[in-house]
Amino acid sequence: MVGLGVNIDHIANVRQARSTLEPDPVPISLLAEIGGADTITVHLREDRRHIQDRDVALLRAVIRSRLNLEMAATNEMIDIALQIKPDMVTFVPERREEITTEGGLDVVSQKLALCKAVEILHSKGIPVSFFVDPVIQQLETCKMIGAHWVELHTGTYAEAGSKQQALELARLSKSTAIARQLGLRVNAGHGLNYQNVEPVAIIKGMEELNIGHSIVARALVVGIEEAVRQMKALLHNPHCNSLFGSI
Ligand code: PXP
Repeated sequence: MVGLGVNIDHIANVRQARSTLEPDPVPISLLAEIGGADTITVHLREDRRHIQDRDVALLRAVIRSRLNLEMAATNEMIDIALQIKPDMVTFVPERREEITTEGGLDVVSQKLALCKAVEILHSKGIPVSFFVDPVIQQLETCKMIGAHWVELHTGTYAEAGSKQQALELARLSKSTAIARQLGLRVNAGHGLNYQNVEPVAIIKGMEELNIGHSIVARALVVGIEEAVRQMKALLHNPHCNSLFGSI
């Protein structure tokens, strides 16, 4: 059964909008765990626009699920990861002007630097994942440079119209199969919500989905615990044929 990583960056966004202390993403993560989160995911951005260093350190100390630290492959971030020792580092692309992560990391064009980063983190027992587009060359390169995991970017699937969405789903499905054949473990995320998640959740070989915005948005209405519980219910009882027929 596919797992759920809850991305709590948007809770920190609300706090940082006023540079104050609330809402605090740390206790809210504990409620997300009660709702069924298998992983808590945070993106410590270089400009610290939402998650702060203190959040990551406290989460490491208190959560009972897994901590997935998303970050750029910079020396500063690698040093922080070595101190914090998250359960996984996911390397993501980062541009200051973007609102959220846009597209996967181009692992192919940066393979030498990324290979070094993987080596450093692996030497301290921290597994590494790369957030990539569902493109074979990217997957092959992830394997070549020693990654254990990939996180497939589902943003294009999420934003596609209904006809195109079926094609994007097939791409995700095929990429998952190829990644598994290469010996990689596969997560996915970005833009997934209560309406579009089910077909992705039933892709064979998919291990965990990282979902942030839609869960935090629903949490404003029903609370985080219930919002996570509802998403988990969808992942565990997907109505396989509701959108695209059998895949
Ligand atoms: N995975 C990665 C690598 C991300 O950067 C994000 C967004 O922060 C997500 C998953 C979650 O995306 P969303 O907020 O659209 O659910």
